[in-house]
Amino acid sequence: MSKIKVMTVFGTRPEAIKMAPLVKELEKFPETFESIVCVTAQHREMLDAVLNLFEIKPDYDLNIMKKNQNLWSITSDVLIKMKEVYEEVKPDIVLVHGDTTTSMAAGLSAFYAKIPVGHVEAGLRTNDKYNPFPEEINRVVVDALCEYHFAPTDTSMENLKKAQIPMTHAYKTGNTVIDALLYIVNNKEADISKLGLNPDLRTVLVTAHRRENFGEPIRNICAAIAELVEKNKDIQVIYPVHPNPNITNVVHELLGGKERIILTEPQDYAPFSTLMKKSVMIMTDSGGVQEEAPSLGKPVLVLRRTTERPEAVEYGTVKLVGTETADIVREADKLLNDENAYKKMSEAINPYGDGTASHQIVEILKSVK
Ligand code: UD1
Ligand code: UDP
Repeated sequence: MSKIKVMTVFGTRPEAIKMAPLVKELEKFPETFESIVCVTAQHREMLDAVLNLFEIKPDYDLNIMKKNQNLWSITSDVLIKMKEVYEEVKPDIVLVHGDTTTSMAAGLSAFYAKIPVGHVEAGLRTNDKYNPFPEEINRVVVDALCEYHFAPTDTSMENLKKAQIPMTHAYKTGNTVIDALLYIVNNKEADISKLGLNPDLRTVLVTAHRRENFGEPIRNICAAIAELVEKNKDIQVIYPVHPNPNITNVVHELLGGKERIILTEPQDYAPFSTLMKKSVMIMTDSGGVQEEAPSLGKPVLVLRRTTERPEAVEYGTVKLVGTETADIVREADKLLNDENAYKKMSEAINPYGDGTASHQIVEILKSVK
């Protein structure tokens, strides 16, 4: 029997982190699969850092990133450039991940070429089309056009059913992010000594990048960080700042040079994982971090109004706090100063899988042809 041609397409940091274990797993079966990796490079530096870490050399690189790019240019560049790649490679199946514009446009491009698509991290929903924007509609589109759905949890399986997606090829697999995290934590040492953290202080880790937090919400988040540090003399905040100018300019203007607040470049995944491990708690609007932190026993305050990860809220590992300064300060203060509240969140169970998601997905892919 001829090999199954699997093309994995991704473009941003979180997709790369979550697709890397899958690429590695496919490579374990060279007699069954021809694995072809195509990156759009919707992100450039942040993508390359992950490719280096996992030692993945893409077969195709569309190199589309522009400074301060917009949704229209990402969509049209990916849609058209992927057409050419699909015509050349003729994959048996294309795998895309999650809810980015790369995933939506690469999936749509494959659908137009009548190539079956598999959606890794299928079925996540907030059911609020502007939160997160544009990710909620991106994932609805990808789920609708896909043949194969790899859903991380029972809730995401339920969401697929509610969306009337045919469930013949829908599988609950857990989330590949746990595979990636366990691999990095167990195999890659990271030196964070140059970041300037004071070992005598408790560390709070912060990230924020979402489009719906541009403007007033990110300013509120910065005000909350400044107030927290002022009130709690035994903490320091470390904030790897996303390179989007809508974020980086504001954060440096409001928090630059302040005592016990360290603003850094985005960290490679290995040092970032170490930072998560070393921190007392995390404040973030990230999706992936909500899934990873519970594996490390770290409470997460989510700086958003909605989450597509309701399991984590239900299990008590994350709390939605929104983007009002007073709400963030109140909830963070409680975690920092109330032992019981802290214990309850840090000892909850992680609902996102056991590190075998990629293996399960690859086993399913063996019967694609
Ligand atoms: C994208 C995804 C979002 C995901 C996030 C992860 C979409 C619409 N958004 O948002 O779902 O949560 O990635 O981080 O798909 N930049 C660099 N270097 C990089 C990466 C980004 O300079 O390596 C700067 C560029 O100026 C770029 C800007 O950040 O134009 C925005 O990047 P973009 O991918 O459009 O948006 P993100 O906010 O990163
Ligand atoms: N991450 C990283 N370095 C950083 C910040 C985040 O490696 O400086 C990792 C994080 O551990 C997670 C992923 O990037 O795996 C999340 O990416 P991001 O928050 O940008 O996107 P989202 O998950 O919200 O789509």
